[in-house]
Amino acid sequence: MENNRGQWGSNFGFLMAAIGSAVGLGNIWGFPYKMGKSGGFAFLLIYLILVVFVGVVVMLGELALGRKTGKGTMGAYLAFSKKYAFVGFMGVASGFLILSFYSVLGGMVMRYMIAFLLQLLGLDGFAGQGGGFFGFLLYDYGGMLFFYALFMIITVYIVMGGIEKGIEKFSAVAMPALFFILLFVIVYVAFQPGAADGYAFMFKPDFSVFTNPEIGFFGVLKAAAGQMFFSLSLGMGCMITYGSYLSKKENLQKNALIIPFADTMVALMAGMAVMPACAAFGVDYGRGPGLLFVSMQTVFANMGSFGNFIGFLFYFLVFIAAVTSSISLLEVSTTFEIDRTMAKGKEPNRKKITLIYALAIFVVGLPVCLDALGSGGAAVKAPFEILGIEAGGAGFAMWNDCWLDLYDMISEGVLMPLGALVMSVLIGWVWNTKTIKEECEESGHAFTGFKMFEVCYKFIVPVVLVIVLYAQIMDFFG
Ligand code: PFF
Repeated sequence: MENNRGQWGSNFGFLMAAIGSAVGLGNIWGFPYKMGKSGGFAFLLIYLILVVFVGVVVMLGELALGRKTGKGTMGAYLAFSKKYAFVGFMGVASGFLILSFYSVLGGMVMRYMIAFLLQLLGLDGFAGQGGGFFGFLLYDYGGMLFFYALFMIITVYIVMGGIEKGIEKFSAVAMPALFFILLFVIVYVAFQPGAADGYAFMFKPDFSVFTNPEIGFFGVLKAAAGQMFFSLSLGMGCMITYGSYLSKKENLQKNALIIPFADTMVALMAGMAVMPACAAFGVDYGRGPGLLFVSMQTVFANMGSFGNFIGFLFYFLVFIAAVTSSISLLEVSTTFEIDRTMAKGKEPNRKKITLIYALAIFVVGLPVCLDALGSGGAAVKAPFEILGIEAGGAGFAMWNDCWLDLYDMISEGVLMPLGALVMSVLIGWVWNTKTIKEECEESGHAFTGFKMFEVCYKFIVPVVLVIVLYAQIMDFFG
């Protein structure tokens, strides 16, 4: 049975794939911009606390459930009881929605990467639009569709290759490359005059945001928690899926520490590339989502002759980060269907399954690709236009601004925290934390800190998640 599902070739390969899943647009784009909007250092501190007490714990839970059952997100819950199938379903649905908007963004990243490459070759990569390129691109539907499809095709191609020969092989080369390119960009940015203000914003203790009535402590907590789940690929069974392909001899507890640690490192490193770069060129880092495209383009345009090269490198690394994440998102669906087919006693056809799911996801993502991110008057109307209401304000109240925000609200805002909440409660109160301990000890490594994990599954994770979901719902109803 196990053989036609496949397995990771090595623990290193697994780690590169899992870290690759975690490290993505969430780190290089989401982290700096949310930090920029939600108080800099205060956000960072809460984020780090959450990673330790919630992230690591949920990560271990997912990896252990996956490896124990040898099944992906749906199969793992079904292995316990039919009653819990809905948790698996939420996971598959999240992966579906996230991949649809993620690939649209991935396509846009590719477009910027190619634009800087053309600039480097002495051509006009920005199609005569200069700094107005972003506004032009959103309404260039043919181009949007082309790059959306191209990004999806790359993702499909790798996932079709399988766990070891596709995902692992790609990640084992791409992730180290990403690390060194990022390091290079950080060092280059550090030498730009005025960069220091960016570091100060990140690391100088400042808690003024807590007294800001618009955001406050709960606002920061909610932003940091949402970011953490998304960034660590948690709450939707992606790590259950990856864990299901891991050999029994690998040390789960150690892996569950390494992945969040590496992901946090890369988020900090991305901040140390983006924040000082913005500071050096007088670009505001509280600008929100436009940071990755509009702000960074301005930064590279002002960097002088070397700017095109650094710009190309930067978008190339964002592209790598996005692909290693998108393949994990698609793998959630592929594994779901492979498990389903095998449960019926049939032989799964990975290539066919991957292609069919990717096509369905592509169709679901079309409104995201064609609504000009809610800028108005686009080929596809934004949710607020369809509903005939005013576009929302800040936070999740802005779910109706564009299709991307709507999909994001459903997945990252609701389904992922809910999925993690149910999983923690099941582990802590129904299945018993010992289930996790026993699975970890299968490899012959003693489990450390059982009491601490038990308290986290039973109390800390559920309490934090209930607060987050409550804040989300309050926001939603304005
Ligand atoms: N962790 C990825 C990022 O930070 O961009 C996004 C992601 C990948 C979320 C895979 C969820 C997932 F299952």
